[in-house]
Amino acid sequence: MPDGLETGENKLRRSTTEDDITAAVLARFSATPDPRLKEIMLALIKHLHAFVKEVELTEAEWFQAIEILTEAGKMCSDKRQEFILFSDTLGVSMVVDLIGHRKPEGATESTVFGPFHRLGSPDLPPGGNIAHRDTVGIPTLVGGRVLDLHGKPIAGALLDVWQTQTNGLYDSQDKNPNELHMRGKFRTDSEGRYLIRTVRPVNYPIPSDGPVGAMLKATGRHPMRPAHIHFVVMADGYEPVTTHIFDRTDPYLESDAVFAVKESLICDFARHETPTPEAAKLGIAGPVLTAEFDFVLKPAGATAQVDVLDAQRRLAALGARA
Ligand code: BEZ
Ligand code: FE
Repeated sequence: MPDGLETGENKLRRSTTEDDITAAVLARFSATPDPRLKEIMLALIKHLHAFVKEVELTEAEWFQAIEILTEAGKMCSDKRQEFILFSDTLGVSMVVDLIGHRKPEGATESTVFGPFHRLGSPDLPPGGNIAHRDTVGIPTLVGGRVLDLHGKPIAGALLDVWQTQTNGLYDSQDKNPNELHMRGKFRTDSEGRYLIRTVRPVNYPIPSDGPVGAMLKATGRHPMRPAHIHFVVMADGYEPVTTHIFDRTDPYLESDAVFAVKESLICDFARHETPTPEAAKLGIAGPVLTAEFDFVLKPAGATAQVDVLDAQRRLAALGARA
């Protein structure tokens, strides 16, 4: 059709620019009835379009991104959550965590939940051994108190604990994935004290045989996490905290693959060549490590924080192993 005879619609199409498309998409979403969803969708479109324009994404790169997301989806199973790994390694999980858990001075800081929590870990008595099948790690006692913001002990607080074996694998990644190992639930006594028997935590690589691993490799990053033990600590009337304690001597503290290290969560694991009286009572004969860490909980807010349990339930719904 000669130029002069174009219809209005053709003219419109011809004059469509990148910014016109962004404006049209924003306008289409602007009728979203739920105000929070509207806020999220409008910001998402704004930033996503700005990103594509800034890097001038090619069609080949766009298609590669689709392939990567497709591969990530295919990798997800009852043992693997590749999207959580993406979120963690891109630092998004920690930003969400920091926004959602702003703590008053003195309260234990939270960190990533990670994909390896399992529901149904056993209730263990004080000093109970979560590492009963690990015969190579150095026996380690982790103890301390659960306190409120004023330093008052919280009796009956629940500590849900999980850790890798000395081979750097979680039970669900190892030979007998259905058997629970390196997990337990502990309660504080009347003085708010807890005691956990385990083995020295080790540093280990996050799963890197999928698209997240490929991203780390292509960008010159390593997949290692510094040695740590996971905790969810909860008590009636207090906000639960999902956190880790980290071994102060670990070489990866400065470069955790998932950005989860906070100074306040770094802990000394002291080595004793002969068992301490507490270790001897538990039947530990040789060298032992001891670590002392107090957890401080803040009171539950007006709107009850069910997010930790919610995270567990949501993960289970995604297919995480019970
Ligand atoms: C973990 O510590 O279990 C973990 C956290 C984030 C990603 C992968 C593993
Ligand atoms: Fe871990």
